[in-house]
Amino acid sequence: ISTSKPTILVSEKLGEAGLDLLRSFGNVDCSYNLSSEELCSKISLCDALIVRSGTKVTRQVFEAAKGRLKVVGRAGVGIDNVDLQAATEFGCLVVNAPTANTIAAAEHGIALMAAMARNVSQADASMKSGKWQRNKYVGVSLVGKTLAVMGFGKVGSEVARRAKGLGMHVIAHDPYAPADRARAVGVDLVSFDEAISTADFVSLHMPLTPTTNKIFNEGNFAKMKKGVRLINVARGGVIDEDALVRALDSGIVAQHENVTVTPHLGASTKEAQEGVAVEIAEAVVGALKGELSATA
Ligand code: MLT
Repeated sequence: ISTSKPTILVSEKLGEAGLDLLRSFGNVDCSYNLSSEELCSKISLCDALIVRSGTKVTRQVFEAAKGRLKVVGRAGVGIDNVDLQAATEFGCLVVNAPTANTIAAAEHGIALMAAMARNVSQADASMKSGKWQRNKYVGVSLVGKTLAVMGFGKVGSEVARRAKGLGMHVIAHDPYAPADRARAVGVDLVSFDEAISTADFVSLHMPLTPTTNKIFNEGNFAKMKKGVRLINVARGGVIDEDALVRALDSGIVAQHENVTVTPHLGASTKEAQEGVAVEIAEAVVGALKGELSATA
């Protein structure tokens, strides 16, 4: 290993095109499933670290880096698994890949919404258990229903665009979204309460921040229509899970059996993973070359 080249630790699976780009610039160490102790013991030998959402880049990691780590690259959008305060204190840049998986996440949201409306996962499980329950799994139509898009950023606006194509009435809430962006998609921006209280479907697309942490709580579930359908392809932490279970039990949110869960699949398409890999590799290489100077 040449010592003049920077060392880049990749702690979660990254697309080949991104790895190739990184290898053309530095020594790349792909070590997956590291414990936090293993990550801390490796990190002082690294100039850059690339993660997805599974690696927690805590203050301990920055402390263990002993000043060598120059950049953390998040192969995705959300940077809630990186301690930004500690990164700033230790003079480490944090960069993300903000665009390449937008469509993948939006399509996952639409897939879940359609599957939920037509009970696809429940009917599939029932069929596979040898039953034929046509009457039990009568669904609801999407056309004419109101969808509230909570968080009208990149993913939210792509979900809105697609839902309009399905004939849904789309409203959105986002304290930061410009009105002209909403107008361009044909969506009304409304208050948080109006959005959640008038929607038949509520789709969550906000980042996880101290403000949005558990924002879907008992009080807000109580404002929703009985039988509302909820889609979350954002972060689990925006929902208070105990309150959700109570809302499911009481029938505010369409019952338990209607819950469809996947692992963290929003960004997991072949296309998005290759795109994200290249986007983050370019950002990390740029940071190592000194072309970037701000935290993501
Ligand atoms: C994201 O924030 O873009 C996703 O969490 C990416 C991922 O699947 O890691």
